Amino acid sequence: MKKDAKISNAVIKRLPRYRRYLKELQKKGVDKISSNEFSSLIGYTASQIRQDLNNFGGFGQQGYGYNVEGLYNEISAILGLDKEYKMVIVGAGNLGQAIANHTYYYKAGFVVCGIFDINPRLIGLKINDIEVMDYETIVDYVEQNQIDIGIICTTKDSAQEVADKLCFAGVRGLWNFAPIDLEVPEYIAVENVHLSDSLHSLAYHMNRNYEEKEKAAQK
Ligand code: NAI
Repeated sequence: MKKDAKISNAVIKRLPRYRRYLKELQKKGVDKISSNEFSSLIGYTASQIRQDLNNFGGFGQQGYGYNVEGLYNEISAILGLDKEYKMVIVGAGNLGQAIANHTYYYKAGFVVCGIFDINPRLIGLKINDIEVMDYETIVDYVEQNQIDIGIICTTKDSAQEVADKLCFAGVRGLWNFAPIDLEVPEYIAVENVHLSDSLHSLAYHMNRNYEEKEKAAQK
């Protein structure tokens, strides 16, 4: 990767998609791919692909294209997916339980080590073999187990206090599902996930497609 390069968030957000397609190509036994072939597969223009990957030093060779396995490994390393991350879920309600049951994250190197809640009726339960522990003990647990990521699935009112505690205990990233903008020290990475944003964006595109179809029909 180019030293000191500031990569735009839009590029970073496209990398997982490149990686997913490269994994599929690997499964099919494809060793190399040109940017034009990759373009028709993934739906970005060849020049977009070249520009994106040039941010990290290229990886392509003139007249050869991209080495599928090499590029997959490079993108994995750029995203930090060549490591394993330990996570805790805070809030063992509907969403916390759904995430704990979503075993994909184990395969991908994101390991849910523990779940925490304040509700005595939930403490001691096992969700997907992971014990729900008392939130009172979270700081010690995070410190002792060197947890990297806190997943916030509590009610909105508790989310900031939970974030403060997780940061104090030493996590480096927060995956926040609560509908609140968290205030955290600048060295902590926060990724907010809002399913409703995605649904609203779907509504926008549906309406735009409909309007375009109507306009075309009137011509
Ligand atoms: P829920 O009410 O089923 O679960 C919340 C859990 O958090 C409860 O078990 C409660 O005891 C626990 N809790 C509250 N304060 C706590 C604290 N200080 N420490 C530890 N545990 C604590 O709610 P649900 O449906 O699971 O939603 C959880 C959060 O996720 C809510 O803030 C909701 O608005 C949000 N949400 C976000 C979505 C998204 O797309 N980002 C989608 C669905 C829910």
